[in-house]
Amino acid sequence: MNERNISNVLSAFSVHSGRGSRGSRSTGGGGRRPRVEKAGRHRRLFTEIAEEWRRLLFPETTDEEFIEQFGQTVLFGLLLARVEGIAFEGESVHAIALKLGKRHSLMGKALDVLTEESSTVGLSTTLNTLLRVVGAVDWSRLDDGSGDSYLLLYEDFLQSYDRDLRMRTGSYYTPHGIVDAMVRLTEVILKRSFGIESGFASPEVVVVDPGMGTGTFLLSVLKRAAATIAEDEGPGALGPQLRKMVGQRLIGFERQIGPYAVADLRMHALLRNYHSAAPKEGLRLLVADTLDNPRAEFNWIPHIYRPLAESRRQANKVKRDERVMVVIGNPPHDAVSRGTGKWIESGDPDVGEPAPLNAFRLAGNGTYESKMSNLYVYFWRWGTWKVFDAHEDAPFGVVAYVTPKAWLKSRAIRWHASLFTAIRRRGLDH
Ligand SMILES: C[S@@+](CC[C@H](N)C(=O)[O-])C[C@H]1O[C@@H](n2cnc3c(N)ncnc32)[C@H](O)[C@@H]1O
Repeated sequence: MNERNISNVLSAFSVHSGRGSRGSRSTGGGGRRPRVEKAGRHRRLFTEIAEEWRRLLFPETTDEEFIEQFGQTVLFGLLLARVEGIAFEGESVHAIALKLGKRHSLMGKALDVLTEESSTVGLSTTLNTLLRVVGAVDWSRLDDGSGDSYLLLYEDFLQSYDRDLRMRTGSYYTPHGIVDAMVRLTEVILKRSFGIESGFASPEVVVVDPGMGTGTFLLSVLKRAAATIAEDEGPGALGPQLRKMVGQRLIGFERQIGPYAVADLRMHALLRNYHSAAPKEGLRLLVADTLDNPRAEFNWIPHIYRPLAESRRQANKVKRDERVMVVIGNPPHDAVSRGTGKWIESGDPDVGEPAPLNAFRLAGNGTYESKMSNLYVYFWRWGTWKVFDAHEDAPFGVVAYVTPKAWLKSRAIRWHASLFTAIRRRGLDH
């Protein structure tokens, strides 16, 4: 597929919705209305959808971020449809979205909502071009069975579509070698320190990647579990055992729809390789914000948005109720302004809950306090909170992150990990 084609199509979305040329800044979320609204009825409808999306699902989304979500949803929703063998010829996007929704409810619904006919009338040339380009792709020729073609497509897509977005969202994907080494190291700890001989294959090991991107860590965990299952129980056990594993204890959170869709594609492809499949309840890959308040619930959500809201609801349930033994991944790292850490930084004043980040704060931190305002610090706190602090009856496990070296050296943070891995032994107190 020609990258330039795709990036041209997507710049058309950007121009239509007032984002301007690639890399330019839009109005941001600070209350000013997007430029789209000035230009007629269809643009007004588009803006209404943006506002609804924001109000109901992603309250902090800026105009610019909404447009990114829009472009990513349409492109990756259509790609997912092609991978599922849905033919485009003579079909509307609505009809494609309905078919897609049968197996991928979140992507199907997101595609349908965002391309509602009346709001995208001015986009019909762009959408038709996209349908033609994506519709012509023969995935069976691109995919070698590993699912890596989707990953490469996404990385190349972001690189050529918007380098700024890549930097802002920390969308840098981790080389396989590093991921596999971290997964192996974590499994050694599970075996040696916790006596869990079957490592990731054990039903008691629940794994979360809180910024899963395109899912490389979770796929690596799945492969290790598959190797153990095949050795211990024979290849015939792979189908049912892996289905159970992905339906129960392999969990990923991701804020952006594009990488989420790619993770979904890759996980399905890998399961097929093992002659397995997702259970009918689906995979536990969720579109959600890791740093959000686990108690935030929606009062009421219109029917069309339910699959998206459901994803966030399920993530909240994992945060609140589920015992997690391994948190692993490559979370974003970027200095940010105060408040970006959301619940981790501020707690929940409504129920008198202190900020989880307080556990990292040193008394008299003075000027060093500003070093805490970094996404990687919030993700470390989320991981250590979830594994060690959230459930008194299970205060042990492993947190393994790719992290800036400042984590090891910083004088600002009270709680230090040794190397990249923080371990608490089963049975030891805090
Ligand atoms: C450095 S990338 C790594 C992705 C993945 N671990 C990999 O190597 O393929 C970090 C990912 O975290 C996601 N992310 C950033 N902030 C997040 C948040 N608050 N909640 C969930 N995901 C987030 C980004 O969208 C990005 O995909």
